[in-house]
Amino acid sequence: MSGIIGYVGKKEAYPILIHGLNCFEFRGYDSVGVVTVDKNEFELRKFAGKLAEFKEKNEANQPKGNIGLAHSRWATHGMADENNAHPHVSYSGRLAIVHKGIVENYSSLKEKLIKDGFEFKSDTDSEVLINWIEHIQSKSQKSLQESIQIALNQVVGAYSIIVLDKEENALYAARKGAQLVIGVGAEEEEFIITTDTSPLGGYTSQVIYMEEEDVYRLAPGEKINLLNLDNLQKSPVIEEFEEELHAIEKGDFDHFMLKEIYEQPKAIIDSYRGRMSAVEGWIKLGGITEYRNKLNKAKRIVFAACGTSWHASLVGKYLIEELAGIQVSVEYASEFRYRKPVIGNEDVFVAISQSGETADTIAAIELAKHKQALIYGICNSVGSTISKMSHAGSYTHAGQEIGIASTKAFTSQVVILTLMALQLADYKGNLSKTQLNSILYELEQIPSKVEEILKLDAEVKKIAKVYHQANNFLFLGRGANYPIALEGALKLKEISYIHAEGYPAAEIKHGPIALIDENMPVVVLATNDSAYDKIVSNIQEIKARKGKVIAIVNKGDTVIKEIADHSIEIPKTLELFAPLLSVVPLQLLAYHIAVWRGADVDSPRNLTKSVTVE
Ligand code: G6P
Repeated sequence: MSGIIGYVGKKEAYPILIHGLNCFEFRGYDSVGVVTVDKNEFELRKFAGKLAEFKEKNEANQPKGNIGLAHSRWATHGMADENNAHPHVSYSGRLAIVHKGIVENYSSLKEKLIKDGFEFKSDTDSEVLINWIEHIQSKSQKSLQESIQIALNQVVGAYSIIVLDKEENALYAARKGAQLVIGVGAEEEEFIITTDTSPLGGYTSQVIYMEEEDVYRLAPGEKINLLNLDNLQKSPVIEEFEEELHAIEKGDFDHFMLKEIYEQPKAIIDSYRGRMSAVEGWIKLGGITEYRNKLNKAKRIVFAACGTSWHASLVGKYLIEELAGIQVSVEYASEFRYRKPVIGNEDVFVAISQSGETADTIAAIELAKHKQALIYGICNSVGSTISKMSHAGSYTHAGQEIGIASTKAFTSQVVILTLMALQLADYKGNLSKTQLNSILYELEQIPSKVEEILKLDAEVKKIAKVYHQANNFLFLGRGANYPIALEGALKLKEISYIHAEGYPAAEIKHGPIALIDENMPVVVLATNDSAYDKIVSNIQEIKARKGKVIAIVNKGDTVIKEIADHSIEIPKTLELFAPLLSVVPLQLLAYHIAVWRGADVDSPRNLTKSVTVE
């Protein structure tokens, strides 16, 4: 997703801005741009493509100046081309803007501006916004800071913006629904405004976490000027931030995604550490303990999430219904927010999000909160919007995930959900002490079993080579492995651009079986669970139609090995932990297929790490 950064101070702005764009790179983007002010003129450079190429192009002739803006864009309005790349300059040529988010009413604002004689160079809502600000100022004759406040009052949407006024040598910043922070240099001589704190490391540890709808004016050597929504002066709160050690080193791995797949044994341990003891037979997820009564009485648990986190929610449904006997429904956050969902104060609403910043999930929480449900957040990103909005919750502690295709964040979400289901089952008295002990003991074996699966990497790579030119793939699973079939298909389409679908295995008879012929690879999750015999029949049905079967089986399986084209043997575990193991070979398969196809694994086209627009 887009990242924005602005600098004003005494240093050369360009290297600081480029450092910021480097930090945002893993979020996913399609174009980049920088503006500085050199001898009172804008020096504007834009590029549709990767940051490395942009840097190379500008290496010999870097834009000069002590003030500037930069942006990495993930297109929403208008194609991903140079014209639509940010920064955008206002019609008069005095202001420039970088903008993250969406102006929903941009077309009506644009119409008004066109009537007033404004002309536009791009198709973006951002160019409309900067001209709208300019228009308000010229009409009202108020300060730029007040004009921005008035202009934003008429804007519908969620955004963060930085505006550069080249005549005043000042930056202005505002946000609504999207994060923006200000790094404050010594004696307020310099400021870095940025989407998150990652570009601040090495520059400053003083930070202001901007509040919604405040408008800041920042000029070197001047006091920070801050107006709230009602145009009243406020005092900024400057905090010390702890420099996070960003996991932005690939080490010996070719891609972050592969590194993160290999980090799963550790991520799994980190997510259950201190929250359970197999020897003593207890589980303690802080948030669950705190709201024990409410959870015990919950009529229903409603999960809402997007993408991979939605798949984790489906595993959660299986686990909670199976172990705790509480009814669970799983919602796409984007659908939930626009319905009239039946939810109330007797329900528990669980929002799952790696980033904690997904716009649709945030909106779904707002709705559930309004309806008085208890909000439980499961997030990876500490201090994220969702973690702050929730009444209670659990961090997954997977560590920073950089690869756009989520891997270790998923397995750690499933660990939290497993603990949640077990703790609720324990409260309800559904498990004997011995049962709980042996389940937790098996959970402790999962990291070493994942290690064993990772040793199959070379074998999976060979299978990937055989099928890397396929145009379609099917993924089938039953029970707790059904969400894993969906996740396997999602991983493959995200990074290899092969069309892939996940289905409950028995459901293929109702349509998808028509697709099966000798060109269709079908990945079947066929571990030795309660539905094993049924899965064997499903494989027979596929083979009878000449489909190619890649089966994920348990070690020592002899039946499926006979009929499948390829078998990947993974260790046995309890049925409820099957998702934690069977997802790993599917992640490796997607990864190797993408590499064989020469795809950009860590920054797949059109995708972004956290979708902060709806
Ligand atoms: C994007 C990412 C996915 C992620 C989804 C939900 O689509 O590319 O990997 O699963 O957002 O993100 P969240 O941060 O809410 O888990």
